[in-house]
Amino acid sequence: MLRTHTCGELRKHYAEKEVQLCGWVHAIRTHGNVTFIDLRDRYGITQLAFAEHLKKDIAEVKKEYVLQVQGMVKKKPEPNKKLLTGDIEVEVSSYTVLNEAEPLPLDIDGSTEMTEETRLKWRFLDLRSQRMQQNLTLRNNVLRTVREFYQRNNFIEIETPVLAKSTPEGARDYLVPSRVNPGKFYALPQSPQIFKQLFMVAGLDRYFQIVKCFRDEDLRGERQPEFTQIDVEMSFVEQEDIIQLHEQLIKQVWKDALKIDTPLPFPRMTYTEAMEQYGKDAPDTRFALKLKKLNEIFKKTNFEIFKKALEEKGSIYAINVKGAASFSRKEIEDCTEIVKAHRAKGLAWLKMQETFDGPIAKFLSEEEKKQLKKELEIEKEDLIFFVADQKHFICQTALGALRLHLGKKLNLIDKIAWNFLWVLDFPLFEYDEEEKRHVAVHHPFTSPKKGDILKMETHPLQVRALAHDLVLNGHEIGGGSIRIHQRTLQEKMFKILGFSKEEAEEKFGFLLNAFKYGAPPHGGLAFGVDRIIALLCGAESIREVIAFPKTKDAEDLMMGSPSFVSQKQLDELGISLKK
Ligand code: AMO
Ligand code: AMP
Repeated sequence: MLRTHTCGELRKHYAEKEVQLCGWVHAIRTHGNVTFIDLRDRYGITQLAFAEHLKKDIAEVKKEYVLQVQGMVKKKPEPNKKLLTGDIEVEVSSYTVLNEAEPLPLDIDGSTEMTEETRLKWRFLDLRSQRMQQNLTLRNNVLRTVREFYQRNNFIEIETPVLAKSTPEGARDYLVPSRVNPGKFYALPQSPQIFKQLFMVAGLDRYFQIVKCFRDEDLRGERQPEFTQIDVEMSFVEQEDIIQLHEQLIKQVWKDALKIDTPLPFPRMTYTEAMEQYGKDAPDTRFALKLKKLNEIFKKTNFEIFKKALEEKGSIYAINVKGAASFSRKEIEDCTEIVKAHRAKGLAWLKMQETFDGPIAKFLSEEEKKQLKKELEIEKEDLIFFVADQKHFICQTALGALRLHLGKKLNLIDKIAWNFLWVLDFPLFEYDEEEKRHVAVHHPFTSPKKGDILKMETHPLQVRALAHDLVLNGHEIGGGSIRIHQRTLQEKMFKILGFSKEEAEEKFGFLLNAFKYGAPPHGGLAFGVDRIIALLCGAESIREVIAFPKTKDAEDLMMGSPSFVSQKQLDELGISLKK
């Protein structure tokens, strides 16, 4: 046995016992004749005392050396309240250096600033930090709760292939060349969506999997090229069944992980409400600062910018920032930059002093000002921002982004709140300007709402989906839907999405085929594990809860991947690289 106890285990009642510990040298101090070493492992830190006779040898020992020590547990006269083991120390009688360590290229207790680049390059050392170990432990605990929950509810965990087929699900696929089938490629799954639907056709009834998904998309703080989902599918269910069961799961996770009781049911909002009031389909409802549509007030306006937007069948939206009339020019310019980054053409503003003040005040009529005051509940010292555009969507998303900026800047966000929210009634389609065709808002297997099926071909943009997203504090942590399970409806869907019969057959033939042989009504969802854990840990980015994440450029700085491969490997695959 290399050790009798861990470094987090010993307490007062072990006093006068002989123990053997192993771990890393976390810190070294010398007081008079005694050298103290903090020995660290995953479980904690134990203080070791090396008496005079060991002092000479121990001088060789450096930080992060791996030690094994034998000694007697002693009660400390003055406990160290910062350590769980702070009531005791181990008086070392002998020790062995199990391994030496060069000075570390990074500081694992985080006492000095390190760039994330350094941390990722030396990730195996960064993972020694207490913070990272706590994050990974929490991740493990949550997944244990999740597995137990589904097992208890009759779900079975089934693995699905990683070498799959390229299907248009929204993001770009990662492709894997096939050596034995020259010129052909597998695709890594963007999600196990089709497989899980086939499980329902197979009669497996309730499936779940904790599974890696791969998407070659532009990476932001919340996205990784490979990430983990809790993936679920259920047969003979309605949307309500899926929602209610998963509220129970989330409640259990929060209870186990944080000892927090989340009240059920979670509030719900339609997609339209979310966009109208928050300018985002995943609204952060921890603060108000809601958007208001002002088309009615300005329908006879002489202010050129607003007038033009309305003439082009567009909109004018505004937010009233309470007490922000003291904003400087610079602060207003910063706000303007934000809306412009979201494609707005500009940001008009008014301040309320004794009267309305600001560059556009002179263009507004007394009647408009009066109505504005009422509609936005404007008081002295308020600052009002407007965006007008031919597209409602741009007014909404631009002010939605500004709203989030102001929420942070003005400290409006309740930091201890856990605001869960179901967003429902998403549109089934949106129009892709670049591709000049309709695309699925979720994925092509999402069922339209029954009452909207007739509008699919005539007014596709008015059709609502039987989809559900779960939002937490402004982050989309999960999403899913009731699926199409009839072949004819699925074919109609593919047709509206612009696939020819042949393309649909080529890409999804196996699914369409499966629908011939008794597909049950089914639906499900998937949670983003990394996002959920990051929120539970209070981490800024999902990289903080993934052992070996990739950078914004989809690189692994530690392994140095992606990397070039040998000519021989390329030849075997029949691949030649373009210059
Ligand atoms: P969706 O694409 O909405 O649904 O994904 C489900 C959840 O996964 C998380 N997520 C991500 N997390 C990190 N990095 C990414 N690149 C990333 N992309 C998505 C989000 C999201 O809510 N097959 C469907 C689910 C279904 O319909 O059942 C799907 O994949 O938290
Ligand atoms: P301009 O006449 O372009 O100098 O704009 C006058 C003010 O209106 C400036 O504060 C612009 O930022 C703002 N503005 C311009 N276009 C828009 C728009 N589409 N919506 C809201 N404000 C705008």
